[in-house]
Amino acid sequence: MKILVTGGLGFIGSHTVVALQSKGYEVVIIDNLSNSTLNVLKGITSISKKTPIFEKLDMRDKTDLKKFFLKHKDIDGVIHFAASKAVGESVVNPLLYYENNIATLTYLLQNLTELTQQNLIFSSSCTVYGEADNLPVLEEAPVKKAISPYGNTKQIGEEIIKDSCSAHSNLKAISLRYFNPIGAHPTAAIGELPSGTPQNLVPFITQTAIGKREKLSVFGNDYPTADGTCVRDYIHVMDLAEAHVVALERLISSKSEMNYEVFNVGTGVGSSVLEVVSAFEKTSGEKLNYHIVDRREGDVIAAYADTTKANEILGWKAKRTLSQALEDAWRWEQQTVLQ
Ligand code: UD1
Repeated sequence: MKILVTGGLGFIGSHTVVALQSKGYEVVIIDNLSNSTLNVLKGITSISKKTPIFEKLDMRDKTDLKKFFLKHKDIDGVIHFAASKAVGESVVNPLLYYENNIATLTYLLQNLTELTQQNLIFSSSCTVYGEADNLPVLEEAPVKKAISPYGNTKQIGEEIIKDSCSAHSNLKAISLRYFNPIGAHPTAAIGELPSGTPQNLVPFITQTAIGKREKLSVFGNDYPTADGTCVRDYIHVMDLAEAHVVALERLISSKSEMNYEVFNVGTGVGSSVLEVVSAFEKTSGEKLNYHIVDRREGDVIAAYADTTKANEILGWKAKRTLSQALEDAWRWEQQTVLQ
């Protein structure tokens, strides 16, 4: 079977490509290389010993996207990652985010609804829950007003897909609400490539440990949590990648009960910032230079998933530990320095 992975050279996309290839799927990647490089394609090939079909394509170009679908009429499913994801940038340049994340999604759906039968997996985020009233957070929890245009694009994206599935019986979709993806492939052939200063915790930690950054700023230690720092559900990117394959297989084998479903993808375990720092120190043997600073605007206190729905209905469960994820992230950081 042939699967289209949009944004397939990005962090989660590239790991999902590897997970698909390991299950025998043929993969076609489209990516505009705005936040990735062709080296990722080499990394994928070195792991899988198979080179995916790659087309450099900017999905904002409606005509090019149409041409792509005319050329690849035999696609059995689509995993849609291509999007912008920097929260701060989205506040400064909201229209870029609405164009990159929403306009492109509507173009994709226009093409998919014209095909006889299509299956779509959408990258959503736990950001849709905001500060959840109850933890661990269930899929039924209310979607809270987004605090950034980026978060809004995930909420609107889910709504657009849901409406499209209601109107077009040939379209089936699953939104996966990711918690905090971290880590890298254990071979260190692919991993996360933050552009500029990392905004996310784990790349900042590994870059500090390697000496690219002077010290980690821990954003606040006066939160109402056990040690005062924020709590998140950190999931190994390979676990997350495998969840995409399982979700896609649910659509392809027509097991889904409804045309549109939503699943949390996390480990179900919450870890505080200081717990992540200490787990990193333990696994890497490096002492991390960090200091406590003021809270970061927009951070929720705690977010971790109730994964019962994914465990029971998808038959998927995260297998890797926080330490494994940090070990893989650290191996990846060390080898990027050697390049
Ligand atoms: C962030 C985004 C979220 C997005 C996700 C993508 C915000 C508010 N949220 O999630 O919408 O889906 O990235 O991966 O930006 N931390 C530090 N020091 C740092 C960096 C982070 O203390 O230098 C802390 C944060 O305060 C937070 C935790 O580490 O408590 C995780 O932060 P981060 O990796 O940025 O993820 P989220 O904020 O959860």
